[in-house]
Amino acid sequence: MHPSQTPQHITNISTMSDFKLNICCMGAGYVGGPTMAVIAENCPHIRVCVVDLNAAQIAAWNSDYLPIYEPGLKEVVEKCRGKNLFFSTDIDAELVKADIIFISVNTPTKTQGIGAGKVREASERRRSELSRSR
Ligand SMILES: NC(=O)c1ccc[n+]([C@@H]2O[C@H](COP(=O)([O-])OP(=O)(O)OC[C@H]3O[C@@H](n4cnc5c(N)ncnc54)[C@H](O)[C@@H]3O)[C@@H](O)[C@H]2O)c1
Repeated sequence: MHPSQTPQHITNISTMSDFKLNICCMGAGYVGGPTMAVIAENCPHIRVCVVDLNAAQIAAWNSDYLPIYEPGLKEVVEKCRGKNLFFSTDIDAELVKADIIFISVNTPTKTQGIGAGKVREASERRRSELSRSR
């Protein structure tokens, strides 16, 4: 199936209670996608969800045409996807569920305010906001 024909994210087939731990990775790029696929393959008792703001990127991970090529990656994704590996645009829902969060988003530098010159902290701030509202 071509990415344009796939839903933006596949609904989780397994229930949360099937898993001992939930990992959320923000950023389905070169680092997040392959790293999480390998974790999912090696840790079938862990639910791994990779989230991204970019719906086209998530659709591609959920299709037969992955957005990234690495030898063996497609086979690993096809083995785990829909079992304990998921790709989603529903960032807030996955952040709230997560026991462990990996952040592999782009790292634009803050240019003003407190922390100028350091990595922008938007993703960490969002997680913190969600934690406070639970
Ligand atoms: N690719 C490498 O070889 C490499 C090596 C060392 C370090 N890094 C670092 O790792 C990080 C990720 O690199 P990459 O190559 O995977 O980048 P990438 O551009 O391939 O992927 C980043 C993804 O993050 C998504 N994103 C951005 N902001 C987001 C947000 N707030 N929430 C959810 N998703 C968001 C983007 O849509 C994009 O798909 C960067 O900080 C990079 O500097 C990369």
